[in-house]
Amino acid sequence: MELEAFIQQRLPLEPVPGVPEIRLHRAGPSSGLMRLADADPDFGSPYWARPWGGGLALARHVLDHPEVVAGKRVLDLGSGSGLVAIAAALAGAGEVRAVDVDPYAVTAARLNAAANGVAIAVEQADLLDGDPPDVELMLVGDLFYDPDLATRAEVFLRRCVAAGIAVLIGDPFRAPLPTQRLTVVAEYPVADFGDAAGALRTAAVFALKA
Ligand SMILES: C[S@@+](CC[C@H](N)C(=O)[O-])C[C@H]1O[C@@H](n2cnc3c(N)ncnc32)[C@H](O)[C@@H]1O
Repeated sequence: MELEAFIQQRLPLEPVPGVPEIRLHRAGPSSGLMRLADADPDFGSPYWARPWGGGLALARHVLDHPEVVAGKRVLDLGSGSGLVAIAAALAGAGEVRAVDVDPYAVTAARLNAAANGVAIAVEQADLLDGDPPDVELMLVGDLFYDPDLATRAEVFLRRCVAAGIAVLIGDPFRAPLPTQRLTVVAEYPVADFGDAAGALRTAAVFALKA
């Protein structure tokens, strides 16, 4: 089955916990994601099939504080399902790019953006070793889950800050997050992937300062 059809038919569109303004195609026990994995040796981890704690906090923050994004050129780095990019578009961002290395995430984010009636430019790319993009605000939801990736992301985001780009990071205090070099802007209770049903943990929105 073609990927778009698989997502549309097997991952129901459901409201996002704590962010009910947005609906996403979300994997459940009967979605059969293993079918995709079995058919593609490059399948990877289906991060795009669920909202993550960091993205949930950042999406909630953007929707509650639309002035953070209003009229701005925004990039959602590590966009997964597109949750944060969709929130930015709904909150009135001028232009929204969503960037992820995973081609499955790109397809999912395009479908999710359409389902929520917003226009987002979704790209498959790894920007971390390149120059800062031409945006005013970088939104980063839950990209600090792996130590090596966290190091690369911080170096890149510091280059972005030096180039005048504001950086906001949403994260549920995962171990690789360099919290000591970040400033907490707000905290939100979130239902993170992998936690027991109904359990909430604290995730924060952090600013990365020069
Ligand atoms: C834990 S998921 C978070 C997804 C989404 N932001 C959210 O909060 O729900 C992390 C995402 O980062 C992506 N990713 C990993 N390395 C990346 C890189 N170098 N550049 C862009 N995206 C990357 C993964 O493919 C994955 O979709």
